[in-house]
Parts: sequence; C-alpha cells; structure tokens
Amino acid sequence: MTDEPPIRIAVIGSGPAGFYAAGHLLKDSAGRCEVDMFERLPTPWGLVRSGVAPDHPKIKSVSRVYEKTAAHPRFRYFGNVTFGEHVSREDLLEHYHAIVYATGSPSDRPLGIPGEDLPSSHAATEFVGWYNGHPDHTDLEFDLLSAERAVVVGNGNVALDVARMLVLAPEELAPTDTADHALEALANSNVSEVVIVGRRGPAQAAFTNPELLELGELAGADVIVEEAELERALAVADPAAAEDITSRRNVEILRSYAAKPPAGHPKRIVLRFLLSPVAFIPGEHGRLGSVELVRNELVPAADGALRAQPTGEHETLHASLAFRAIGYRGLPLPGVPFDERSALILNRAGRVLDPHSGTPLPGEYVVGWIKRGPTGVIGTNKKDAQETVDALLSDLAGSSNGAMPAGQPGAAHLPSEPDAAAVEALLRARQPELVTYAGWEAIDRHERALGEPHGRPRVKLTRIEDLLRAAADAQP
Ligand SMILES: Cc1cc2nc3c(=O)[nH]c(=O)nc-3n(C[C@H](O)[C@H](O)[C@H](O)COP(=O)(O)OP(=O)(O)OC[C@H]3O[C@@H](n4cnc5c(N)ncnc54)[C@H](O)[C@@H]3O)c2cc1C
Ligand SMILES: NC(=O)c1ccc[n+]([C@@H]2O[C@H](COP(=O)([O-])OP(=O)(O)OC[C@H]3O[C@@H](n4cnc5c(N)ncnc54)[C@H](OP(=O)(O)O)[C@@H]3O)[C@@H](O)[C@H]2O)c1
Repeated sequence: MTDEPPIRIAVIGSGPAGFYAAGHLLKDSAGRCEVDMFERLPTPWGLVRSGVAPDHPKIKSVSRVYEKTAAHPRFRYFGNVTFGEHVSREDLLEHYHAIVYATGSPSDRPLGIPGEDLPSSHAATEFVGWYNGHPDHTDLEFDLLSAERAVVVGNGNVALDVARMLVLAPEELAPTDTADHALEALANSNVSEVVIVGRRGPAQAAFTNPELLELGELAGADVIVEEAELERALAVADPAAAEDITSRRNVEILRSYAAKPPAGHPKRIVLRFLLSPVAFIPGEHGRLGSVELVRNELVPAADGALRAQPTGEHETLHASLAFRAIGYRGLPLPGVPFDERSALILNRAGRVLDPHSGTPLPGEYVVGWIKRGPTGVIGTNKKDAQETVDALLSDLAGSSNGAMPAGQPGAAHLPSEPDAAAVEALLRARQPELVTYAGWEAIDRHERALGEPHGRPRVKLTRIEDLLRAAADAQP
C-alpha cells in the first residue's frame, strides 16, 4: 500500500484476457492500481461461460482464479454495462488513467459462397452461444429434427466442439450446464451423422490432441476416417508439420481412427480432408439440401506453408444442416481505432495506436483476442495480458519520473476526474440496472441451487430479465 493517489484503470470485458489484465495490474502495481471492470452482460467470464463446451467442466473451473481477482478490495465489477452504449471512450478517459480493451472476438467469419445464408446454414458462433445459454442466442432455432446429416466446415477445436455436442448421448449431456432449451432440442435431435470438412490435410489441422482423442471416447458415436483420403493428404511433405509435435500426434490419432472398425454406435462423426465448400444448395422449402464441395490439392505458398488449391473435381454431400467453424472475428468499438482487415483494435504489443500517426494513444491499451486475433487457449491470454500491463505500468512510470513528458506518444494519460464515486454515480444514472459483483454472486447462487437437485453444476438463466431478477437478490 502507498499514500500516493491511486492509479485508476478501466478494463472493458470480463473474459480471461480482462481478468488476467486486472490480476496483473493489482499484483504488479505495488498497491497503486484500482481496477473497475465493465461487462456488457450481467454475467462475467466471457467465453469461459459462453464458449467452452458444457461437457468440459474442469476447463470452466478456471473461473476460480478470476474469482480471487474479483475479491480484491481494489476491484469493482460493473455488469450489464456496454462500452459504446452506457459509457463512451471519452467518459472513461475523464475518469481513468488508462482503459484496457478486452472485448474478445464475438462475431464470425463468412465463407463468402452462394447459399451461405440459407436457413439451417449457421455460424458456429451462434450454435455455441445457443447451447451455452448466451442471452444473445437464446431465441435462435436449429432444425435438429428434420436433419439427419450435418456438415461442419473447419478443422479447429471449435469444429470439434460443435460436432461433439451434436452427437453426445442425452446421458452424457444431462449432468452438464448446457442451456435447458438446448438440452431438450439435442435430446430430440435426429442428426445421426456429422461430417467435419477440412480444406487442408490432417497434418495441417488446427485441432489439439486431447480434443481429437476425445472423439474416440464418445458413448454413442463412431469416428470414421477413410484411410485412402487420409493417406492422399499425407502424401504431400510438410516440413513444418513434421516438426510440430501436436500435428504428428494428430496424424497418429487419425490413423488409429482409420484403422478401427466402427463399433456400430447409433451416431457417427466423419472426418474428411482436402475439401472446400463452394456452394450451399437449397433443398425442400428453401432450406439447405446439400453442400457442393471441391477437392483440393496442397501446394506450397510463398511462405513455405502448404495451402489448399481447388482441383476442379467436385462432390455433392446431402445435408440439411451446416455450421461454419472457420474462426471468430472482432468487432469495432465506438471511437477506438480498428483495423478492418485484421478485425483487431489497432495496436503495437498492447498499446492502442493513433491510425493517422501510428503512435501510441496515451492511456489506451488492449488485451486478448481483440488485440491479437481469435486464436489461443485460455492460458495464452495470461502472458498476452502481462505484455500489455508491463507496457501500461512502464508508460505510467516513465511519465511520473519525467522520462516521458505528458502529451508525448507513449506518455501516460491524466484524467480530469479520477474519482471512484463519480464513476459509479455516472453509471447508475446511465444504467439503473447495473449488476455489481454481489449481483453476479446472487445469480451464481441461484443457478447453482437450480442445478444441484439434478446433479448439474448449474442451470443457466439465459434471458437478461431473469438474470437481473436473480441479481436483485444480491446481499449488500
Ligand atoms: C467455442 C469456444 C470454445 C473454447 N474452448 C476452450 C477450451 O476448452 N479451453 C481453452 O483453453 N480455450 C478455449 N477457447 C478459447 C478461449 O475461450 C479464449 O482464448 C478466450 O476466451 C479469449 O479471451 P478474451 O477475454 O479475449 O475474450 P472473451 O472470452 O470473448 O471475453 C470478452 C468479454 O468482453 C465482453 N464485451 C464485448 N464487448 C463489450 C462491450 N462493448 N462492453 C462491455 N463488454 C464487452 C464480452 O461480453 C465478453 O465477456 C474456446 C473458444 C471458443 C470460441
Ligand atoms: N478445447 C479447447 O482447448 C478449445 C476448444 C475450442 C476452441 N479453442 C481454441 O480457440 C481458438 C479458436 O478456435 P477455432 O476453431 O475457431 O479457430 P482455429 O483453430 O483458427 O481453426 C479455424 C479452422 O478453420 C479453417 N478455415 C479458415 N478459413 C477457412 C475457409 N475459408 N474455408 C475452410 N476452412 C477454413 C482453418 O483452416 P486453415 O488452417 O486451412 O486456415 C482452421 O482449420 C483456437 O486457438 C482453439 O484452440 C480451444
């Protein structure tokens, strides 16, 4: 602790990146930083609550680390407050020495092919949000009744999550915190085959080993890999993949799937390679009927990596449900410099840059997926946040010791009213339904109590009005 006035920091977004940044700030600033976190939902944890698959409860338990940060006396949580709607960049610069943007990549990437917008062709982002009870996606509908085959485009872990959720047996889903509306729809689903389509080969897939292995352990689904297709894709040498231990192990796992006869489970996941969708073709009632695919070959790109090049040979796969799991995408925040091409907040190693001069904007920083793009596991955000916090604290130190005069690029920002009570008053005026951390704890208690009799970690409240009602039970 110190007698010097506190350094006030606003963190926007309560996912892993926001919480790691808050934790580093509170730990590394010798008791000088006060952190206020703003989250557009009443609930914290970002994709740990609304992305990580419900059948992976151990991964979700990383939130215990964030709970410790939230318990710090110099930390406050303002949920149900959207940056750009209830508070602006200018408001925050008036009240804080620095803003740390940690808003993630909530949108999806399009494939840019005909028929992509047909009903029953969806972004994985929407399906993931729906089964995880994200209030934005609660009312979406997925036709799991008329579809027998679903196609999932992409070879990353999100594609595996989506495929697995589509074939998990009801008894595997029952003890999870899958949203109730999704539990019911998945239990009645007629989808019996999920085809995962990769544009490159098994050695270039972005899956990680435990997630690929998990497919082979499902109670009600076989994993099918056609040996000839697998070996055709592996026939092209890829020196980078050969040195990558994850890639080598993925190939071993996939070869073991190819060699294993199906056990005769009621459902199957089929992994296909070297195929790209070129059109989604309408079927009955204007819904998706089939996916037209082109076979690819692997050719070296300028950087030495192998890229997929279409051969002109086509294949049609009947399917009435499709998900594109080809990556998430960042969204701009009002007033904050954004690079449209990369869909990232314009930054250098976490310092937000002025788009005109290319120099750092005093007092503005960024962490997580909106800083570096939508890849990396939860832990990746810890180191990433450390880089930004180091830059922030070094800018503050440089300004206070005179090394970097105020107003210079890289200098600290000096707020006109760095007052904790003034911010809270402003927020309560702009958003009377603000949810404090005590409000979230009340939601948490409520959800856990609903889950307990059924042996589930929680039953999620999936509508804002229900979350606010539960938050109102907060103990002072
Ligand atoms: C489907 C899926 C499953 C995953 N599963 C795993 C896994 O099993 N294991 C693993 O290690 N990693 C997993 N990951 C990766 C991991 O979730 C990410 O690395 C991590 O969540 C990124 O953290 P973030 O804080 O940058 O973004 P996010 O987690 O997306 O957090 C961003 C937060 O900002 C909030 N926000 C956005 N805009 C505003 C605004 N305008 N005002 C206020 N708040 C705002 C959002 O509501 C959200 O809470 C998964 C990712 C996905 C997509
Ligand atoms: N259990 C877990 O640990 C877990 C679960 C989910 C997510 N995550 C993490 O979250 C991050 C995001 O995962 P993600 O799956 O969204 O992204 P990802 O790992 O980047 O995978 C995206 C996939 O989409 C493919 N793709 C991109 N554009 C395409 C196109 N136009 N046509 C066809 N395919 C295309 C990519 O192929 P190319 O390689 O050819 O570009 C790649 O296979 C990853 O770091 C992931 O590991 C972790």
